[in-house]
Amino acid sequence: MRKLLVFAAAAAVAFGAGIASAADPIVIKFSHVVADNTPKGHGATLFKEMVEKKLAGKVKVEVYPNSQLFGDAKEMEALLLGDVQIIAPSLSKFEKFTKKLQVFDLPFLFDDVAAIDRFQAGAMGQTMLKSMADKGYTGLGYWHNGMKQMSANKELRLPGDAAGLKFRIQASTVLEEQFKALKANPQKMAFAEVYQALQTGVVDGQENTWSNIYTQKFFEVQKAFTETNHGVVDYMVVTNTKFWAGLPADIRTELEKIMKEVTTAVNKRADDDNADARKKIVDSGRTKIITLTAQEKAAWRDAMKPMWDKFAGDIGKDTIEGALAANAKKTN
Ligand code: LMR
Repeated sequence: MRKLLVFAAAAAVAFGAGIASAADPIVIKFSHVVADNTPKGHGATLFKEMVEKKLAGKVKVEVYPNSQLFGDAKEMEALLLGDVQIIAPSLSKFEKFTKKLQVFDLPFLFDDVAAIDRFQAGAMGQTMLKSMADKGYTGLGYWHNGMKQMSANKELRLPGDAAGLKFRIQASTVLEEQFKALKANPQKMAFAEVYQALQTGVVDGQENTWSNIYTQKFFEVQKAFTETNHGVVDYMVVTNTKFWAGLPADIRTELEKIMKEVTTAVNKRADDDNADARKKIVDSGRTKIITLTAQEKAAWRDAMKPMWDKFAGDIGKDTIEGALAANAKKTN
């Protein structure tokens, strides 16, 4: 009886596999950690819509938002294992695979998202997209979110106000050192755990974009937000190198074309998504937004800028200079 069952199961697997290769569409699972109503969420949805229109019957895209399928660290692993085919982690989360991307975490390095866009479009940014291909991650594009704001369960006006507080950070050594420079205590934590950690006092503060702060409801559990714009949350859309290389050439070409269009659309609306989220936070009346004077902002910059030298060896001086050139509207 047992033998018979094993045989039946094996036959079912073989039969299923046979059907899959003959007629079923290619399935792309796109997993991410944020809400649908964010720049990355919009991008994933638009990618699904466009693929299922232009490659109807050939490719199906399943989007899993909000760490529903995999959280931060797990999604990286899942991509290598083939459990998902596309993810778009924040650039802060790649340091295990390349130190170059740490350039995006350097506080007050890029003036704004437009400068980041210019840097990414240049030779350095484009080389970075392919720099992890041998480790299994192939970059398909950069998606913007926006500039980070800092918050805590007390008002932060000057860098000294952060001293002694616990801040949630992404898995990034640069961000860890950035908070240590403020004499604060950084704690690496998956994005999905932040709301509860803020609510229960496991951490006192955090840094993120308005769209993430709004959609994760961080504004409901923080006393004040300081409009520091001190750094950036941006994404690399990555796929599994082998999976991508194994796709039929015509399908891969079409997917790359669609990804390019989606990237343009995401990056065009990211600023609006954040402005919209900021407005909703103000309208909620649940928290306070502190606007810094030029002098106060300079104090934050002075406190954090030593990170540039500290990480110049790992990142490369030329890369940091490339970022500064992007501020000055020059290409690298
Ligand atoms: C975070 O972990 O704070 C963000 O990177 C989440 C995201 O993907 O925007």
